[in-house]
Amino acid sequence: MDDLDGPSFLTSLYWLFGKGYFQTTHQMQIEHSKIYGPLWKSKYGPLVVVNVANADLIEQVLRQEGRHPIRTDMPHWRGYRKLRNHAYGPLTEIGVEWQRIRSILNPRMLKPKHVSSYTNAINGVVSDFIEKVAKLRMTTDKDVMVYDVAGELYKFAFEGICSVLFETRMGCLNDVVPEETQKFIFSVGEMFRLSPIVILFPKSVWPYMPFWKHFVAVWDHLFKVADELVQKKMTEIQEMVKHGQPVEGEYLTHLLISEQMSFTEVLGSITELLLAGVDTTSNTISWALYHLAREPEIQQKLYEEIISICPGDKVPCSEDITRMPLLKAVVRETLRLYPVVPGNARVIAEREIVVGDHLFPKNTLFHLCHFAVSYDEKVFPNPSAFLPQRWFREQKQLNQHPFGSVPFGFGIRACLGRRVAELEMYLLLSQLIKHYEVCPDPSGKTVKPITRTLLVPATSIDLQFINRQKEQEEPGRTNASV
Ligand code: HEM
Repeated sequence: MDDLDGPSFLTSLYWLFGKGYFQTTHQMQIEHSKIYGPLWKSKYGPLVVVNVANADLIEQVLRQEGRHPIRTDMPHWRGYRKLRNHAYGPLTEIGVEWQRIRSILNPRMLKPKHVSSYTNAINGVVSDFIEKVAKLRMTTDKDVMVYDVAGELYKFAFEGICSVLFETRMGCLNDVVPEETQKFIFSVGEMFRLSPIVILFPKSVWPYMPFWKHFVAVWDHLFKVADELVQKKMTEIQEMVKHGQPVEGEYLTHLLISEQMSFTEVLGSITELLLAGVDTTSNTISWALYHLAREPEIQQKLYEEIISICPGDKVPCSEDITRMPLLKAVVRETLRLYPVVPGNARVIAEREIVVGDHLFPKNTLFHLCHFAVSYDEKVFPNPSAFLPQRWFREQKQLNQHPFGSVPFGFGIRACLGRRVAELEMYLLLSQLIKHYEVCPDPSGKTVKPITRTLLVPATSIDLQFINRQKEQEEPGRTNASV
């Protein structure tokens, strides 16, 4: 490890703040790999990070991750929980305790039979969103434009994940969004924005930094919202028991009645599921729509695929989705171009490991540069193009590296919400494309991503939604192309 080249802390600060890469660290992965090669060492505040920007080398790290993989020790997120005596959840827990939590949380989040049982709940949210789009169009001057699609989709995603976790509707798609929800969504954003700033400084100085107070306040709000929702469900269950009614329900009900976790532990996990389940799906759907709008031919093929499986008024369900390869490929390609987690991490705590030609001691922190690999033309020819067909089975078998794009991570520590996220994205996209032809903003504005821990749109994504049934034949519609 000592032989590895890479920028010093001062050079890194220069790149981040002098050259302005602080919000485009995903792009910095590409620039640094051009300078230092696929494996380099950098200093980030108190951390020494080994960056890995090659599919083969990423595979080597992940295959040696051990029995209890650690992403990073997340001292800032864990520090907050310690301060407030909250339990760690699946994102922040480590070791045997993490394994125990995952074994309780996994089945109803990942097993296909449980996941497909959420279809009706999610489809309820989807149909409200379709109606919301109609209303949003009417309130704009041009009456086909929807402004800030990602912002609207945050509300969809929050409503969607709550419908799965709490079997409750939150009213986020109503005309007036509950204030608490709006604040929750804002707090998630602030927490992700502040995280890379906090981690730049050693732990000992956090209490004296102005942003630490704000960081703690936004976490307090996240836990407060989750606490109210979990308490509400507890009361409902107690009422059912009191009246001798059978206690039935889905995710949270199951967690509470199975008594495998204490209330504090359930709260720790639910808070983390909520915060992981909003920006991730909503931004991916936003980027997918953005590209479909710019690629009318792909959108037309997708529309044909959807109506061939679900003609007329038929609402797509999870079984229909299995017969929509293009829909899946569109999401897959979107996640390659915009991996929500542009750089993942692993700490190999169990033993020293060899990666490439280098030996690394125990507890080395590896930063896996997924964004850089997604744009590596040796792995994905014509990497900047939106080409869903590269994910069709025949193509994949020919030339795809299994670690070229791993948007949900790898192994036993991979994304807990993957199946639910995919179901949400497929159900919403299929219904949206069935109802609306999505066209770009006539101003021709392009949108680039920035990194705020997660990869998010830098500016508002504004799109035209043209009602396929009513409006297509009407003269004078601005069915603009890019
Ligand atoms: C497009 C949607 C999503 C993407 C791309 C995504 C991606 C990821 C990635 C890359 C990881 C790290 C995995 C690893 O280290 O190997 C992760 C972890 C996680 N995700 Fe997701 N995610 C998405 C949606 C969701 C949703 C909807 C939920 C909640 C229901 C969720 C809950 C989690 C949790 C709890 C973890 C931590 C797992 C652990 O450390 O054991 N994710 N996700």
